[in-house]
Amino acid sequence: MSSSSEEELIHMFKGIPFTTRSSLELLNSLDAFDAREDDVLLVSYPKSGTHWLARVLTSLFSAQVTLTSPIEFGDISRLEELNQLSSKRLIPTHLDYNMLPTNFKNKKCKMIYISRNPKDTAVSMFHYYRDNPNLPTIDSWTAFFDLFLKGDVVCGSWFDHFLSWEEHANDKNILFLFYEDMKKDLPKIVKKISLFLSLNVSENDIQDICKKSSFSAMKSDTEKENSDPHNTVCALTSNKKLIFRKGAVGDWKNHFTPKQNRRFEETFNEKMKLSKM
Ligand code: A3P
Repeated sequence: MSSSSEEELIHMFKGIPFTTRSSLELLNSLDAFDAREDDVLLVSYPKSGTHWLARVLTSLFSAQVTLTSPIEFGDISRLEELNQLSSKRLIPTHLDYNMLPTNFKNKKCKMIYISRNPKDTAVSMFHYYRDNPNLPTIDSWTAFFDLFLKGDVVCGSWFDHFLSWEEHANDKNILFLFYEDMKKDLPKIVKKISLFLSLNVSENDIQDICKKSSFSAMKSDTEKENSDPHNTVCALTSNKKLIFRKGAVGDWKNHFTPKQNRRFEETFNEKMKLSKM
C-alpha cells in the first residue's frame, strides 16, 4: 500500500486498515456509542454474506426494524443519525470484537456473526476490490492473495477477525452462522435465527423468506431497483451489481493455484490453531 491514491483511500486505525470513508473522528468516538438493549447487530468480515443475512433479517422483522449502514462508516454525524432513529435498529458492522463499542457488550445486545470459508471470502473480496473505484487498485489475483494472507486489506486479517468473535461464540447473546450452512439448508438457518431473536414465524413465512432471499431473487431485485445507496449495506458502493456476483461455494478452486492453496492452508493451520471450530 504505497501509492498516494491508496493513501487517499485507506488509513490505519489501531493497526487495522479502514477506508477513509470511516473517519478517524468517528472511529475514535465509537466507544461512547449509545447502544440500546433491543439493537440487533449483524456482524461480518466483508464478503461473507452480509447482504444475504440482512435480507433474511429484514424479512423476519418485516416493518418493525430499520437497517442502518455500518456503524463505522461515515463521519462523526453518523452517531447522531443513529441516535435519532426511533425504531428498532438492525446495525451492520465489520468491526472485530475488540473494537465493538462497549455499550453493545454491556447491554448484551443480540449479535449475529456470519462467517464464510476464507478462501471464498478472499476470492469475493478480490473481485470487489478490482471492480470498486473506492478501493485501492489491485494488479492481479496473485498480488491480492498476498495482501489477504497478510491482512493488508480493509478490515484487516480474516483470521484475527474470526478469532476475536469466535472467543465469544458461546455467549448467549451471540449467534454464529456460516454462509455454507445457509447455502445448504436456508430454511433451517432462518428457523434458528427466528428462535434466537424470539420471533414467531410460521413455516409459510419461512418458505417465503427463503424465496425472497435466494441469490437469483436478490440479484434480479437489484436490476429492478434504482441504485439507492441507502438500500445497500455496503457503504462503499451504490452499485449492487458488485455485491451479487456468483453466490457460490467453492469458487476459490477457480482461482487458487496448488501452491497458493498450500500456502493458505499453512497460514490457516498456524493462525487457527487456537480455534475450536
Ligand atoms: P461472491 O462474490 O462469491 O459471489 P457481502 O454481502 O458480505 O458483501 O458478501 C457478498 C457475497 O455474498 C458475494 O459472494 C455475493 O454473491 C454473495 N451473496 C449475496 N447474496 C447472496 C444470496 N442471496 N445467496 C448466496 N450468496 C449471496
